[in-house]
Amino acid sequence: MNLGVLASHRGSNLQAIIEACEAGTIHGRVVLVISNNSDSLALRRARDAGIDAVHLSGHTHPDAHQLDAAILEALKQRQVDLVITAGYLRKLGQQTLGYYQRRIINTHPSLLPAYGGHGMYGRRVHEAVLAAKERQTGITVHYVDADYDTGEIIAQLPVPVRDGDTPELLESRLLAAERPFLVATLARLIPETPYHQTRRGT
Ligand code: GRF
Repeated sequence: MNLGVLASHRGSNLQAIIEACEAGTIHGRVVLVISNNSDSLALRRARDAGIDAVHLSGHTHPDAHQLDAAILEALKQRQVDLVITAGYLRKLGQQTLGYYQRRIINTHPSLLPAYGGHGMYGRRVHEAVLAAKERQTGITVHYVDADYDTGEIIAQLPVPVRDGDTPELLESRLLAAERPFLVATLARLIPETPYHQTRRGT
């Protein structure tokens, strides 16, 4: 199965996916990485791994409709079967969402629906969790729909909040749990038989 990953910044989840594909844990290969950030570590990680890396954003395409079309075209051109948004801080457009319905997967560092939605990303999520004195937070892997963090949940992993946790500590503990959890969830979802073969029923 051909995977396309969208990431905005660091791309450590992307790196985990690339390595899991190389190790055969995930039966697929990352054929394209798209970032809205031309300087992102995610794009560098992709290039270092010999993967097509493309910057597509409001800078390259000021018109949102055209940006959506360019993202979809890039994915289709590389025959991407499944899209993963991993730390991608933009909403996908209707054309991409429509074409890849139930084939776009996101990871979010909270137990959705708690601490999701517009503006709930990065450290802000962990700050809100600590401010509410939660004893537990976690990771959610879910399908992407037209809104932020509202699509059908695929899998969740609870992670305890500890006394003395800061947003930074919580973030690093969650990230350390998130990478293997995302990989395991993708490994479970992606069959050994390539997607185009199962579609043809062969
Ligand atoms: C992850 O925690 C992801 O859930 C969130 O942003 C973080 C991205 O980290 N949306 P990285 O770019 O994969 O290192």
